[in-house]
Amino acid sequence: MTDDANKMWGGRFDAGQDAIMEAINASIGFDQRLARHDIEGSLAHAAMLAATGIITDSDAKAIREGLLTVLSEIDTGRFRFQAALEDIHMNIESRLQELIGAPAGRLHTARSRNDQVATDLRLWVRDQCDAAIAGIRALQRALVDQAEAGADWVMPGFTHLQTAQPVTWGHHMMAYVEMLERDASRLADARRRMNESPLGTCALAGTSFPIDRHATAKALGFDRPMANSLDAVADRDFALEFLAASAIVAMHLSRLAEEIVIWSSAQFRFVSLSDRFSTGSSIMPQKRNPDAAELVRAKTGRILGSAVGLFTVMKGLALAYSKDLQEDKEQVFDAADSLMLVLAATEGMVRDISADPDALNAAASSGFSTSTDLADWLVREADLPFREAHHVTGRLVAMAEAENKDLQDLSLEQMTSVHEAITAQVRDVLGAGNSVRSRTSYGGTAPERVREQVALWQERLS
Ligand code: ARG
Repeated sequence: MTDDANKMWGGRFDAGQDAIMEAINASIGFDQRLARHDIEGSLAHAAMLAATGIITDSDAKAIREGLLTVLSEIDTGRFRFQAALEDIHMNIESRLQELIGAPAGRLHTARSRNDQVATDLRLWVRDQCDAAIAGIRALQRALVDQAEAGADWVMPGFTHLQTAQPVTWGHHMMAYVEMLERDASRLADARRRMNESPLGTCALAGTSFPIDRHATAKALGFDRPMANSLDAVADRDFALEFLAASAIVAMHLSRLAEEIVIWSSAQFRFVSLSDRFSTGSSIMPQKRNPDAAELVRAKTGRILGSAVGLFTVMKGLALAYSKDLQEDKEQVFDAADSLMLVLAATEGMVRDISADPDALNAAASSGFSTSTDLADWLVREADLPFREAHHVTGRLVAMAEAENKDLQDLSLEQMTSVHEAITAQVRDVLGAGNSVRSRTSYGGTAPERVREQVALWQERLS
């Protein structure tokens, strides 16, 4: 072996690598983010090797102390990462060798970088699931606070972005709380499934050393060791599940962001954003732009892009490990960073947003939003079949529209001219406030139902 060959695996190589080879092969530029988890895995592995008598206690002790030194060098920015050493695993092992000499060479007994990297990334993604769930909880709390403040503020509910029926601000906020709950449960579910240890499956086939994979699994907080060594080194389902669940979170936040963009526009004026989460225009002094909401909406593309990217990397890979798998990390890192950012930005926006109850109410009362209430009244009070009630209501809407009025502004004479069974009592259901108060069915928008949900969620999130 010449001096040029790689000192970690260069036994059968004479010459060094081409610079382009090093550039395409090295992952240290990004996988240094796995350092802490890599060291955790190595500490567990070394302790197990000693406990099973595969290495001596004194070697294990030297390895342990050396690894802790490496960790502190990394934490304090003193560690020198080298592309020539390819990845985080070999950078750390090489430094360990410098620090403790011969015993460092025993750490890699009954282990391969294949099970090592699978273990590191699982640990990393597991932490991200916890962080994302915490971010979701914080956002849910902000939404519940908004819902509590505006449990009975009436606003237009839309279908096709056309005024449909009045709803309450609180009800609208609580819709997102429910969506986010499914997100949290998807992440928790993925976390549960990923919580098995690949460590000790080695290159692909297991090992002839008498290792204790249950012990390392336990030391790393995994529920159990993975049962099949080929699967263990080849699997990235855990990363895909995290990315897929993250893409759904991002899609939900993007829908809320889109609503914030619409609501804060001069045409709607339902809400105003705080200075903290909006920007001005360098040329148009009147502008107050919802940039944070727009970027939350846009980052969905990145996060879904990462999911698609890794799916595409995985789809044609024969078992077990191929270097393609090295491309899993940047997708996961980028998506996780983006996810934490959009969760925090959305929480900040929701906390700061101030809705204008009068503007909401005015919009809720226009657009014949209580037509369905009128039709329902005709069914309930005048015993009309719903189809006929729908028709009668349609004629009343046409009449009001022709006179540029709202339904509640038609006189009783005008109404009875369309159907004789209509009485003055009909006015009870015609205002938007009356409409929402009447929708008391389970899951409905009535303020009393919203307050029940708010109380329930305050309890759950406390
Ligand atoms: N840096 C590699 C990765 O991220 C580690 C595993 C390398 N294994 C190998 N057989 N070359 O996947």
